[in-house]
Amino acid sequence: MQQESELSVLLIEDEPDAARLIQHVLTKGGGAPVALEWVGDLRSGIERLAERSFQAVLLDLNLPDSSGFETFACVRQKAPDRAVIVLTGHEDEDLALQAVRAGADEYLIKSDIRDRFLAQRIRYAVERSRLKRQGSEKAVKSGKIFSFIGAKGGVGTTTLVVNLAAALAKGGKTVIAIELMPEYGSFATLLNHTPSWDISTLLRGAPETISREAVASCLEEFGGGFRALCGPQRPEDYHPVSTEQARALLGVARALADYILVDVPSIFAPSIEEVIQHSSFTTLVVERNRIGLHAAKAKMPALQAIVARPGAVGAVLINKTPFIEFLTPPEFSKRLGCGILGVVPPAADLQAGSESQVPPVLSHPDMPFSQTIQDVARRLSSGPARFLAA
Ligand SMILES: Nc1ncnc2c1ncn2[C@@H]1O[C@H](COP(=O)(O)OP(=O)(O)OP(=O)(O)O)[C@@H](O)[C@H]1O
Ligand SMILES: [Mg+2]
Repeated sequence: MQQESELSVLLIEDEPDAARLIQHVLTKGGGAPVALEWVGDLRSGIERLAERSFQAVLLDLNLPDSSGFETFACVRQKAPDRAVIVLTGHEDEDLALQAVRAGADEYLIKSDIRDRFLAQRIRYAVERSRLKRQGSEKAVKSGKIFSFIGAKGGVGTTTLVVNLAAALAKGGKTVIAIELMPEYGSFATLLNHTPSWDISTLLRGAPETISREAVASCLEEFGGGFRALCGPQRPEDYHPVSTEQARALLGVARALADYILVDVPSIFAPSIEEVIQHSSFTTLVVERNRIGLHAAKAKMPALQAIVARPGAVGAVLINKTPFIEFLTPPEFSKRLGCGILGVVPPAADLQAGSESQVPPVLSHPDMPFSQTIQDVARRLSSGPARFLAA
């Protein structure tokens, strides 16, 4: 038990008055001693976390070099096993709650800090974090793998995967979206995020090095149970994916989330076949036009030959433009020999100028695009996938 030992706390706070107040309350509060170290920006905080094993981090979310949820996501990622306590103002309580949902151990309103129980609340957060870790070490998940392959490139596969992942996470599940690309990955661009780590870190090593810790540390957090492993960002990081690496990565990912959504390149390769064989369900993403149909028909026999069960493959149609007069979904279903999970309406306007890190399915939940994504999420996650009526 750590009750009586000295508690080591890193305070990341840019306002000197707030920092002094916390220092004062913690040192004068009585009880077991607290060793508090204070830094004024995120960068210095991350450096100190790498150098020393603090038990808790008191974190102001608005710092000179980072603001809002991103500050929390960065610290949570760099310090997955420490208690993180978010410091917030009354006006930012929603943001603090968002952080708690995404794994913060506690939040404190700054104006309440005159409280002599501050040290106690930090200790409780440390204890909660320890129990949470113990629990998650025991509870090895056995997530379901859903893979997504474009009938050809550029049809909208990545857009679908990112939005579906966010929709499933909103439903209370933990979700990891993996961009299993040997070359440039667009998750990061779609989510307006610069990843600290991406899949290239994992692909550089032998399959045995793709451990649970290694994968967890490369995941980017997007809040509410949605994490993503982004594809490579720079040409020097492009790396082929071997079958063994794909197998190792999926094995680990299954233990870390309820659902694993894998965005694979539209050109078959042995590693892609490996992913599809391990998937509960594979979705062929098809643009709803003549070329889309032909590309999908060409791909379907190979796909049917790889999947584990005949019903484990289906299609999502993408209407990139309005007023499409091409085949209806039942006609598509007949020509392709598989069920259709949904017809995604045009979303170019939703994505074009957005600088938000939140996918349209969450930022514009009532738009037809988002409603369809939510429906596809329900159809996919309902046990055996439920198709649209033929
Ligand atoms: N429902 C949609 N309506 C209109 N445009 C869309 C829709 N879905 C995706 N797009 C657009 O299509 C383009 C390609 O999207 P995305 O990157 O998701 O496709 P992809 O199949 O993953 O491509 P790649 O093969 O390059 O990985 C983007 O410009 C995207 O905004
Ligand atoms: Mg893509």
